[in-house]
Amino acid sequence: MCGIIGYIGERKACNVIVDGLKRLEYRGYDSVGVVTEADGKLHIKKGAGKIDELKEKLSLLEMPGKRGIGHTRWATHGIPNDVNAHPHTDCSGEIAIVHNGIIENYLELKEELLQKGHKFKSDTDTEVIAHLIEDALKDFKNFEDALRYALLRLKGSFALGIIYTRDKEHLYFVRNESPLVLGIGDGEMFAASDIPAFLPYTNKVVFLDDGEYAVVTKNSFVVKDLKTGKIKDKKVHEISWTLEMAEKQGFPHFMLKEIHEQPKAIKEAIYGNAEVIDQVAREIANYEKIFIVAMGTSYHAAIVGKYLFQRLTKKAPVVEDASEFRYEFEDLVDENTLVIAITQSGETADTLAAIRLAKKRGAKVLSIVNVVGSMATRISDLVLYTHAGPEIGVAATKTYTTQLTVLTMLAIALARHLKTVDEEYLRELEAQLYEMPKYVEVALGYENKIKALAEELKEKRDFFYIGRSVSLATALEGALKLKEISYIHAEGLSAGELKHGPLALIEDGVPVVAVAPSGKTFDKMMSNIQEAKARGALIISLGDNEELEKVSDIVIKMPKVNEVLSPIVYIVPLQLLAYHLAVLRGNDPDKPRNLAKSVTVE
Ligand code: AGP
Repeated sequence: MCGIIGYIGERKACNVIVDGLKRLEYRGYDSVGVVTEADGKLHIKKGAGKIDELKEKLSLLEMPGKRGIGHTRWATHGIPNDVNAHPHTDCSGEIAIVHNGIIENYLELKEELLQKGHKFKSDTDTEVIAHLIEDALKDFKNFEDALRYALLRLKGSFALGIIYTRDKEHLYFVRNESPLVLGIGDGEMFAASDIPAFLPYTNKVVFLDDGEYAVVTKNSFVVKDLKTGKIKDKKVHEISWTLEMAEKQGFPHFMLKEIHEQPKAIKEAIYGNAEVIDQVAREIANYEKIFIVAMGTSYHAAIVGKYLFQRLTKKAPVVEDASEFRYEFEDLVDENTLVIAITQSGETADTLAAIRLAKKRGAKVLSIVNVVGSMATRISDLVLYTHAGPEIGVAATKTYTTQLTVLTMLAIALARHLKTVDEEYLRELEAQLYEMPKYVEVALGYENKIKALAEELKEKRDFFYIGRSVSLATALEGALKLKEISYIHAEGLSAGELKHGPLALIEDGVPVVAVAPSGKTFDKMMSNIQEAKARGALIISLGDNEELEKVSDIVIKMPKVNEVLSPIVYIVPLQLLAYHLAVLRGNDPDKPRNLAKSVTVE
């Protein structure tokens, strides 16, 4: 949604903040703002636009001071313009706030503050917070007390960075339903929405929980409970992510780098889970009522998970979009239910809400998460990490294939425990899974062919992606990738559905991408491809069967793998196709319009 960062120490704060904001840009990129404090005065620079443009235009690196906060915005309340850019200040100009989240009761608070004579400059919900603290300072001498009093009146989600001119030694950070993590340096402290923001300076982190705030000086931090003001005991974690992982390393975009990192990420996912997977499988083995919940790309991983469970464990989980699950399935969830939540960020509001609902109803929750220490990991009973490393591009790539890897391992471990499938078959499948990094390398080797294909297709207006069975997920995910970064209309659908309506949209030259690995439904896929071809479609097939040559205009020859593993390797050419189409159409694939990496509002 938005990214926030704060710094206090001996360095020039603006340098650390601008550098950190660049790493947080994936969270929002319609406006940028920085505030630093020097000589008892706040220095604020902000505006609509991306950080690279504004860095020069506003001379962001020439701001004085050794403490400050910054913000990169994805607009919720108020259009993206200079005035609505964060930070926001109170009437006195002594308190400045940066905010990620939504204040649900801001209108009623604003009304009250207007009546008391406060003057507002922006249309944002955030500005209310600065005025609310200013107002509370009339009744409380101590800034921290005023802060707590004001914040306890807020309803909604917020991660906040707060700076007050008169409180020279401190910065304040607050978390409620939006991510925030402290970075512990040597004689300097950091806070940010995500770890890569301060990774060049420290890998020692403290994760704040909901309803906590941190009072930070350059040499110390203390975390307290917002309601009681009591000090909380917090653990300092040393994380294994390196700076290298959070940088482009010569690739033109993070997305391309992350696509190419998949062989390594899959390997990490396998080795990172090899020792824990059996234990987790044992703990969930007896559940018959299973829901898999997720959003976006993670939802597509959930669909693959469903097929894996059906085929290997003979259990049939219900896959549900987390935003729907919460409202439609409440009565069906009880202590005999297992909910598997899949989320890269561990911060997606809809998925967190689904987890909370499941917990409230007594269900067991297993989360499959990439970001270590994120909220999902802290509110679930069991966690499996995808070990993909930081993913900066807004479009999920390596986190998807690692989610699929973990789900495959889980289904195999469960099947072994339940003895639902032959051990020999499981061993073969496992051996092939271990070979997946090699197969993904093969798929990456098609990049030049796919780039040339993108050149041919770049003017097309509509795409259809079709697949059956487990490949339906690949079709959906391929279409999502194309939509989100190239802005071309794309539909992913089950190949069987084609003739029940969508076929009417097929005319001469419309690209139909057929995901057609050998397997149970290959023959049916061939018929569906022919139906589209007969209506003039341009058929681009992905598969390992020679037969595809007869019905396709273009075949991307895929390595032969077991059908249930095919989603891991088949998505790779489709990620590359979306990437190259986006670049050829002049889009920035790392920062697609209107989107943000973590959707922390419902
Ligand atoms: C995928 O490319 C998108 N960025 C988006 O659909 C994403 O998968 C979704 O918002 C869920 O995020 P999560 O995995 O962090 O929960």
